[in-house]
Amino acid sequence: MKNKTAILLIFICLSISKVIPAQKQDSFKPDPSLIGVINNALDKAVTQYKVLGKNLPAGVLPKTFIGNKKLETSSSTWWTSGFYPGSIFYLYEYSKDTALLHEALNREKLLEVEKNNKGTHDLGFMMFCSFGNANRLFPSKEYESILLTSAKSLSTRFNPTIGCIKSWDHGTWKFPVIIDNMMNLELLFWATKVSGDSSYYKIAVTHANTTMKNHYRKDHSSFHVVDYDPNTGNVIGQKTAQGYADASAWARGQSWGLYGYTLMYRFTKEKKYLTLANQIAHYIIDNPNLPADKIPYWDFNTVDIPATYRDASAGSIAASALIELSSYTDSQNKLLYLKTSEKIIKALASPVYTAKPGENGGFLLKHSVGNWPGFSEIDVPLTYADYYFIEAMTRYKKLVK
Ligand code: GLY
Repeated sequence: MKNKTAILLIFICLSISKVIPAQKQDSFKPDPSLIGVINNALDKAVTQYKVLGKNLPAGVLPKTFIGNKKLETSSSTWWTSGFYPGSIFYLYEYSKDTALLHEALNREKLLEVEKNNKGTHDLGFMMFCSFGNANRLFPSKEYESILLTSAKSLSTRFNPTIGCIKSWDHGTWKFPVIIDNMMNLELLFWATKVSGDSSYYKIAVTHANTTMKNHYRKDHSSFHVVDYDPNTGNVIGQKTAQGYADASAWARGQSWGLYGYTLMYRFTKEKKYLTLANQIAHYIIDNPNLPADKIPYWDFNTVDIPATYRDASAGSIAASALIELSSYTDSQNKLLYLKTSEKIIKALASPVYTAKPGENGGFLLKHSVGNWPGFSEIDVPLTYADYYFIEAMTRYKKLVK
């Protein structure tokens, strides 16, 4: 009798699965209104970046716009220097506006000197977001050589005893490695692909493995800074610099990790990276402190929630990463990741986050937090919030095409 019931149940399940295949139940249907929203936001970005370009003195790169009146800029040495030309390359790709292209080509010249900079881990951000995008659109030997020299400079910061690239030379740390550093690995993978020299690839993989071991907690959130003893490779401390507390989950750090382990899977196809990327995605998406519009507060654990600031940059980085991760994962996660990124894009494209034309110093997005504990760049526009928002929208359009 039991056997008969079991056979009947199996028969019913098989019949149902033929009528509604599992794939279909979870399949993603793009939000029909979103492409219009995205094109509108990209048009606004084109207008804004022309305003920003006009406001920007020669020889510098934009950082932020403080107090709704003061444009802050940097030299090429600052970690954010590549985002402005990088955003413009994406906007040129969208608009084919040659005035924008001239501006990007002009400003990227300021950055070339950084290819020899061995004093920071940020070369991936600086050089790959600028020259990497330039080379993607206009491949050339000259760009290749700049990027390869940059990868070489970045590799000099790798310590084989620790198995990591050193992030900062400043402060009282011995050998600080921050979760943000995962983002710089893309330059190294690219360098191996182009040069055939596997040492870049090996450094990237070793760095990611060490980071996986020492930055990640049981709940799949990440410490911001891990300090190592450069002689023994031992962990000295698991700390924060920009988060609420050592044990808290600084929001942008969670997004950097999500993006970083997603790109690790892109280049290696190693399952453990995909598993971690999925776990980080769930840490963010399932977090009880993630607001309904999916734009995180600047730290998931700050005691001030909900009476504190959002970080649009954490949202835009996560949206871009989730779109890529959706293409590597099962149908249920794919649906979750794409629906979440749609929500983030919609929220960021709304007047709550997107500036009115001509306002916000020419930046596209408002409401990011750079460094709360450092009392710096709180509730302001930031170049990288714009960059990853523009990238997320570009990725979404390519995905649904
Ligand atoms: N990479 C520095 C930051 O995210 O603020």
